[in-house]
Amino acid sequence: MIRTAVIPVAGLGTRFLPATKAIPKEMIPIIDKPTIQYIVEEAVDSGIEHIIFITGRNKSAIANHFDYHPELESHLREKNKLDELAGIRELVSRARFSFVRQNEPKGLGHAVLCARHLIGKDESFAVLLGDDIINSEVPALKQMMMVHDDKKAPVLALQEVSPEDVSKYGVVAGEYVSDTILKLSGLVEKPEPKAAPSNLAIIGRYILSYDIFGFIKETNMDTTGEIQLTNALRRYKEIYGLLFQGKRYDAGNKLDYLRATVELALERPEFREPFSAYLKNLCK
Ligand code: UTP
Repeated sequence: MIRTAVIPVAGLGTRFLPATKAIPKEMIPIIDKPTIQYIVEEAVDSGIEHIIFITGRNKSAIANHFDYHPELESHLREKNKLDELAGIRELVSRARFSFVRQNEPKGLGHAVLCARHLIGKDESFAVLLGDDIINSEVPALKQMMMVHDDKKAPVLALQEVSPEDVSKYGVVAGEYVSDTILKLSGLVEKPEPKAAPSNLAIIGRYILSYDIFGFIKETNMDTTGEIQLTNALRRYKEIYGLLFQGKRYDAGNKLDYLRATVELALERPEFREPFSAYLKNLCK
């Protein structure tokens, strides 16, 4: 069973400047919830009990968000705002949270390596990126856990992307072993469209074994000074990809962030009617 998830949040969020100058990009809300809360909820809904955040400077708001706030709680109690009180309490009590600092932003591979001392040698664990929000009936990580239970090997989340977008992602080669599962034979980080082995991109969900830490250590920095996780993943002898069911938004990209805000608002009963009427009017 997978009970631990690593969530790297140490990146600088430069695509979302100026908002991210003083606020972690993971704390920017979609409607009324910080993006990181959507990711944490997916993890705990999948059965995760321990979340390890890999953090950096200027990220203390994330630790505060996942901690009790006695002053706010007694204020809510006094004002009889019991639903709000239950909401903020529940979030904190659903998992244990640990925080590890990544002292320098040396890439996603390096960020994952920072969690090594908190992972058991025989333990498989999940990695979820704070940028990728996946809206699905069955949590995307849970879908991956089912594949992991069956194959007993690492699993990556995959999504088809348009050919002009492959250069933004890690891209895989592989053979279908079912309608939605591929046994992977190659992984390329940000290929030129012509050199891409497919249009199947790795999305920010991974189930990995402890071996990944050794692989990351053996992986050289790229020309930008970062250790890419994709390059370390290539060292696995057996690894699978899952085309998950669900819609994914890259919340670190401004256009996708807007889409996520509109589409997730339309799913909320209190907004559906007034907001769809508003949108119809706007588009006349
Ligand atoms: P990104 O490259 O998308 O995030 O990394 P970023 O660097 O914050 O954003 P931009 O591109 O400058 O706008 C993917 C994920 O890996 C984490 C980021 O926080 C993000 O969740 N990351 C990246 C780290 O934790 N450490 C790093 O050194 C790099």
